Amino acid sequence: MTTTPTSTAFAVTEVAERAPVEKIAALLENPGFGNLFTEHMVQVDWDRGTGWHDARVVPYGPIPLEPSAAVFHYAQEIFEGMKAYRHEDGSVWTFRPERNAERLNSSARRLALPELPPTVFLDSIRELVRIDEAWVPEYGSGETSLYLRPFMIATEEALGVRPSNRVLFSVIASPAGAYFAGGLTPVSLWVSEQYVRAAAGGTGAAKCGGNYAASLASQAEGIENGCDQVVFLDAQEHRYVEELGGMNLFFLYADGRVVTPELTGTILPGVTRSSLIELAAERGLQVEERRFTIDEWRDGVASGEITEVFACGTAAVITPVGRLAWNGGELTMPGSHELSLSLRQELLDIQYGRAEDRHGWLYQLV
Ligand code: COI
Repeated sequence: MTTTPTSTAFAVTEVAERAPVEKIAALLENPGFGNLFTEHMVQVDWDRGTGWHDARVVPYGPIPLEPSAAVFHYAQEIFEGMKAYRHEDGSVWTFRPERNAERLNSSARRLALPELPPTVFLDSIRELVRIDEAWVPEYGSGETSLYLRPFMIATEEALGVRPSNRVLFSVIASPAGAYFAGGLTPVSLWVSEQYVRAAAGGTGAAKCGGNYAASLASQAEGIENGCDQVVFLDAQEHRYVEELGGMNLFFLYADGRVVTPELTGTILPGVTRSSLIELAAERGLQVEERRFTIDEWRDGVASGEITEVFACGTAAVITPVGRLAWNGGELTMPGSHELSLSLRQELLDIQYGRAEDRHGWLYQLV
């Protein structure tokens, strides 16, 4: 098997004793999402004078930071979410990683963090997956994968509000099963009327921790109201559907139209979102990226014009939406989810190497 060598030089410090294969196999049987971590992590330092330096692989463990480190106070932090998939022949691949490298840098510009050369990003992913390959679940084990979490934090000890002069880029890896414990059970969404996720000119298009922290109070409100997730509306008119905070939304019409909210700067440009736009268009569906109001959603479901609604993202792939609720009302989505599940299967088949990768979306890691 041929694999691309990394061009970034990593100093490698392995754990003193590798986890026994039986232990890893037992943990991978039911990994859940985001609770289990592999044995190593990648770290690369940056400072304003030297730039990026000291790329290394070290045992997974705590990051020593002073309490005054800027990330703790002003949330100068960004991250990415990706997956490594085992194919039937044992090889390991990831999906459109150059998109994540680009998005990390666009988030970095917005958060006044340094851009990371895409080769360092890709090499970091490859290096970590190679050393912790034993943690990539076997092919055929349901939808399990190795979730990869690259992130960048401001490490300088300083309370002045200004861009940090020191930064850490790191990648950790987490064997993962389904994101939602209910698997493919359709999720119910709560329309957040009290809170918004992002306003024009804000950080909505960046993948920064602050956006997710700001979504938690509305998420709690949604759960109190019997829903799984929250749908955010635009900050100005409170009419336009934006996203779920961690996932983009799609609306499928009986006449073959597919509508997804356009990227206005307040919505995260999801890699899954953009891939599904291509897959849907290739099926002859008419994809419309445009502003889409909450009334269109309610009316479209009530009239039967909207036949399916789904949310998508790297972690959960495609999740059907079953119910929409708001202060004073609720609406049940149509029940079939046939097209949503077929798009989901098509995407997974590409990711797991069961379907031809006709777009060149796969990137071999091992
Ligand atoms: C993803 O789908 O990768 C996400 O970013 C959602 C969440 C786990 C933060």
